[in-house]
Amino acid sequence: MNADDLKVKVLGIVGTPIKDGNCQYMLEESLKAAEETGPVETELVHLQDYRIEYCIGCEGCLSRVHRLQKEVGFDVMPVPVKEYNCGIKDDMEILHKKMLEADGIILAAPVYIATVPGQVKTFIDRSRTFVHDYRLRGKAAAPLTVAFYRNAGEDTTLQMMTISLLAIGLSVVAFGASTVSTKEGVGILVKETRFAVKEDWLGMTAVKGVGSQVAQAALSMKAGRLALEEAGLEIKSRAWFPMPGE
Ligand SMILES: Cc1cc2nc3c(=O)[nH]c(=O)nc-3n(C[C@H](O)[C@H](O)[C@H](O)COP(=O)(O)O)c2cc1C
Repeated sequence: MNADDLKVKVLGIVGTPIKDGNCQYMLEESLKAAEETGPVETELVHLQDYRIEYCIGCEGCLSRVHRLQKEVGFDVMPVPVKEYNCGIKDDMEILHKKMLEADGIILAAPVYIATVPGQVKTFIDRSRTFVHDYRLRGKAAAPLTVAFYRNAGEDTTLQMMTISLLAIGLSVVAFGASTVSTKEGVGILVKETRFAVKEDWLGMTAVKGVGSQVAQAALSMKAGRLALEEAGLEIKSRAWFPMPGE
């Protein structure tokens, strides 16, 4: 293993209908902090640029994963799914590929009525294959949020994102960070810049910390994986639910 093998990629996903808004700015700063942490490359994607249909609950992804598991064994993790595993052919195919290629993922979304905007929930629902195929295992993740008011749904939104990231198999490595997009978080708009988030010193400090934590964890996880491979040590994973026959 040499230094070149240890480069990692952190993918930032911003989920809000607003382009170039507070949420996007916050994520950009977090990714900059990730880059400053070490040999880290970053990419930001905005869900607004992608066509994402609702999940229709067809269970196709699950059936295909189970069929594959019957062939290779239920203890094989990740399940060797080769292709895009969703029956809906839209831009989720591009996003799944980007998630699989990343070593770390930061999901940023504003508070919409104490939780994430609908498009973020749709994005999460459409990532269901990863709950069952474990292909995102060993990747670091964390959530970021921004709200109009301080203490007006940030905690519930971060919780929702944390649980969702864990559910699709990512390792959440930071508590997450929240910012406010109005002056002092009391609902006064900053008309001049429209970027009140820039003035939220505490929030932005935490946002940068999260970027750095995800980068550090992604680097350590990759280094660990490569070291295990080099030593010829095979690690046996287990599913978090009983496997057939148990
Ligand atoms: C439908 C909707 C619901 C919202 N709900 C909340 C809320 O529950 N709490 C809050 O503090 N701000 C709420 N906001 C304000 C946004 O979180 C805030 O404007 C944020 O900065 C939006 O991010 P953006 O600037 O990237 O668009 C809501 C905004 C919208 C449009």
